[in-house]
Amino acid sequence: NQSRELSGKTLLITAGPTREKIDPVRFLTNHSTGKMGYAIAGEAVKMGARVFLVSGPVNLEPPSGAELIKVESAEDMYQAALAQFDEADVMIGTAAVADYRPKYIYEEKMKKKEGDQALELERTRDILFELGQMKKDQVIVGFAAETNDVENHAKGKLARKNADMIVANNVKQEGAGFGADTNIVTIYKKDGTNIELPLMPKADVARNILTEVVQLLKKDESI
Ligand code: C5P
Repeated sequence: NQSRELSGKTLLITAGPTREKIDPVRFLTNHSTGKMGYAIAGEAVKMGARVFLVSGPVNLEPPSGAELIKVESAEDMYQAALAQFDEADVMIGTAAVADYRPKYIYEEKMKKKEGDQALELERTRDILFELGQMKKDQVIVGFAAETNDVENHAKGKLARKNADMIVANNVKQEGAGFGADTNIVTIYKKDGTNIELPLMPKADVARNILTEVVQLLKKDESI
């Protein structure tokens, strides 16, 4: 059946933003809404896959049939993704993971005082990179939200993160990126080719990405 091309396959998808605590009432986050990741999860379920959706806090209904694992911080997201990675045939990282978190989490609410306040930050773990290092035969797909020099950044990420595909969008373009229901992406593949897609609904972008994933899984099986 053409439309159940992912039956028997397990997909691990990260989606949404992360929240990095400053104190009990404050956190650092970003504008990710989770729409792209949830769209991929929904399409993958329709294509017959088992889907683990590791999601930061978003205001979306999880696609029915997907197994939702709710997380908050980058570290939580890493741990949850790691726990499913061995079982996964495909890992798709759509999450906008915080690159930095506060170095110290204050146990009590920080009180305001006169003058400036500095916040010391430390790097979080790069989930896609770390899973890329552990990759056995998983197909790994990353996203790249860029504002300039999209192709170079995407190709750099393909290599650095040991990914099979990087889905790049220029978030400055109208109709692309955070919060929109549409996206304009180019899929950069490990074999050096790329696919430039026009403006389309995120569900259609999802389907295009998953069609490429199916091709890569077939190639793996034929070796
Ligand atoms: O390096 P950059 O953040 O631009 O890479 C984006 C890709 O890496 C996305 O697929 C994103 O989900 C993933 N990523 C991650 N963990 C991080 C940072 C990015 O999985 N800490």
